[in-house]
Amino acid sequence: MDHFTYQDGMLHAEDVPLSQIAAAVGTPFYVYSTATLARHYAVFEEGFRGQDVLVAFAVKALSNIAVLSSLAKRGAGADIVSGGELFRALKAGVPADRIVFSGVGKTTEEMAAGLKAGIGQFNVEGEAELRTLSAVAAALGVDAPVALRINPDVDAGTDDRISTGRAEDKFGIPFVKAHETFALAQSLPNIDPKGVAMHIGSQITSLKPFEAAAKTVVNLVAQLRGQGLDMRTLDLGGGLGIPYSTDGTAPPAPVDYAATLRQVTDPLDMKVIFEPGRMIAGNAGIFVSKVIYLKTQGEKTYAIVDGAMNDLMRPALYGAVHHMVPVEQKPGASAPFHVAGPVCESTDVFLRDYPMVSPAAGDLVAFRTAGAYGAVQANQYNTRPLVPEVLVGGGQFAVIRRRPTYDEMLALESIPDWD
Ligand code: LLP
Repeated sequence: MDHFTYQDGMLHAEDVPLSQIAAAVGTPFYVYSTATLARHYAVFEEGFRGQDVLVAFAVKALSNIAVLSSLAKRGAGADIVSGGELFRALKAGVPADRIVFSGVGKTTEEMAAGLKAGIGQFNVEGEAELRTLSAVAAALGVDAPVALRINPDVDAGTDDRISTGRAEDKFGIPFVKAHETFALAQSLPNIDPKGVAMHIGSQITSLKPFEAAAKTVVNLVAQLRGQGLDMRTLDLGGGLGIPYSTDGTAPPAPVDYAATLRQVTDPLDMKVIFEPGRMIAGNAGIFVSKVIYLKTQGEKTYAIVDGAMNDLMRPALYGAVHHMVPVEQKPGASAPFHVAGPVCESTDVFLRDYPMVSPAAGDLVAFRTAGAYGAVQANQYNTRPLVPEVLVGGGQFAVIRRRPTYDEMLALESIPDWD
């Protein structure tokens, strides 16, 4: 249930016709549904009711402050990976103690900002980072709450480009070095070693790798406790996959994911943290674009749309397939079309041989499942303005990031006077 449905042949975001948003904002744009975000958050959280749990939304998936604020009002925390995301999360009203700072390359400035804000946890990924955090915390005269992110060496069976939990991936502390790194954490000043973290990848469509990795880190927690460490948090990361409509994958239901992980973690009696991104945001957003031309090249006809790879990078970057639907349904037989954007790159193709009912210039189309890793990965390649974002709630909508003007886009640039 994603709240993007047809009413009288017109695709709506909740109760708002997309044609109305297109008329107000222009194309292309992203639209998010508040009800879908809320529902996905609730479905995830409900699986863990009764357990001491923190659902820290992975800000990188969809970082608009309106979305973060909406989730924070429902109890979500934030999993951040940069000083910029920290700034956003705080601005959106996420309580600092519900913020977890992940990432393999935190700078001293970012660490200091997190410490000053009083965030709940730093997920530290290596010895050098641990020593640096100790020094930064000591200089500020505070203790840094730390979980060590352990690389459990589990192959999540997901795309190579989004896998993070195999021994050779750049993330986390190798499992074999876990004990010595915890010993170091105990010995360093201003470090409070309080937990273990893991994250094995994204768009994972089987429970097995989650279960295997969780068992590994739970065993580690037991051993560490046996050695007298006061382990209070277990962060199991994000990564639960979602259906992308066309690829035939049936990811596990959140309730089964929760049941499987609870079996492993319930006996521990500690706070369990999750960092879901895609599961909450993916199907809560669509990307709306307009057909500008039809163009026949040999045997193939292209529908050229005004959205492009700079707005939604996933197809060009990962070969991802985003199911596309017309905003206004029309009768007729469908025929295969290629759907491409205007950017001067051969990879700027969204779909190939995709069945469409005779598109015409001016038709609006919507790419589904675009809420996660859509707008956040957009850029201004070809000097195309960053795509606007719109949030719908019931019958209302608000532009939560407007399209910049060309003047605004160039405002950060200057021509040196010596040339
Ligand atoms: N926690 C950490 C430490 C992460 O690195 C990630 C995602 C998450 C949580 C959230 O994972 P999720 O629940 O969303 O799977 N741009 C790619 C996905 C990159 C994921 C990076 N890390 C894509 O568009 O598929």
